[in-house]
Amino acid sequence: MKEQLKNFLEKLAKIYNKNDFEICKSWFEAEKRKTCFRVNLLKTDKEEVFEVLEKNNLKARKIDFLKNWYVLENWKEKDLWDLDIFKDWKIYLQSLSSQIPVDFLDLKEKDKILDITASPGWKTSQVQSILKNTWEIIAVDNNQIRIDKLKFTLERQWIKNVKILKTDARNIFEKNPNFENYFDKIIADLPCSAEWKIFFWKEKSFWYWKEEIVRKNAKLQKEILKNIVPMLKKDWELIYSTCTISPEENEDICHFLLCNFPELEIVNLELNYENSRNWLCTFWKKIFKKEIANAVKRILPSLESEWFFIAKFRKK
Ligand SMILES: C[S@@+](CC[C@H](N)C(=O)[O-])C[C@H]1O[C@@H](n2cnc3c(N)ncnc32)[C@H](O)[C@@H]1O
Repeated sequence: MKEQLKNFLEKLAKIYNKNDFEICKSWFEAEKRKTCFRVNLLKTDKEEVFEVLEKNNLKARKIDFLKNWYVLENWKEKDLWDLDIFKDWKIYLQSLSSQIPVDFLDLKEKDKILDITASPGWKTSQVQSILKNTWEIIAVDNNQIRIDKLKFTLERQWIKNVKILKTDARNIFEKNPNFENYFDKIIADLPCSAEWKIFFWKEKSFWYWKEEIVRKNAKLQKEILKNIVPMLKKDWELIYSTCTISPEENEDICHFLLCNFPELEIVNLELNYENSRNWLCTFWKKIFKKEIANAVKRILPSLESEWFFIAKFRKK
């Protein structure tokens, strides 16, 4: 077994108990993972989508705890490719867990929303699909190729009212001091070591993995968060998420925010999902603040969902 994979598995075994470790393993071993989608409410509705799926002998299941989220039961993503609802972007493939952060934001018309590190636009488009393009959202990314993808996605989904800023999220506030206490909602789905992408049988998927990458991403996440907290309005919310499992990029980041920003409190998240887990109270001998205990959610990877970490903060 390659060194990277061995180290990764050892870490995973430190994070999860035996049972959860086995659930995770099934995700890494799987050759295929289920396809999840949401209905693009700007273009169609659930009824039309289900009618088309049924006509094509495709079965989808609604996931109860999310507003607009479906799993294709018979697993064949390529069967969707020929359907008009897919070609016309009436449905949009988005993993289950990646939809949770926006669902946890109590979105209101006229909210001033910042989606920091926004490309390729899953969450920006999800917000505008819910708010029906009524209010401007600011989407930030620093990578032109990714921004082009974001533009493409938005256009195809009929998403409007998105102001795209190409800038480094680590100094957006310094460049835009007028954003002080400006935003009602901030979505911080930050760059991370993306451990969800690992497949045991695909060496290319894990060659990159090492602790140094995790540490590098944790540092970047802290630098970005330091810069964006001042832009959040009092009484309003910042949602933090990653698609990675390492506590350094998850609980430790929450710990960092609570230690450095006394104006922030962490909000308890209720999620009735069998694969949802609470925090880790300690890792590498570091003990995290106990307010984090029931607040955050770790989504275990399973065939229907990639893993995910979600935390919500409010400015007091
Ligand atoms: C995990 S992806 C974000 C996914 C996105 N939130 C979504 O839902 O579609 C991370 C993004 O962060 C961007 N990024 C990385 N470092 C950045 C930085 N310093 N400033 C701004 N964007 C950055 C990357 O280009 C990438 O598009």
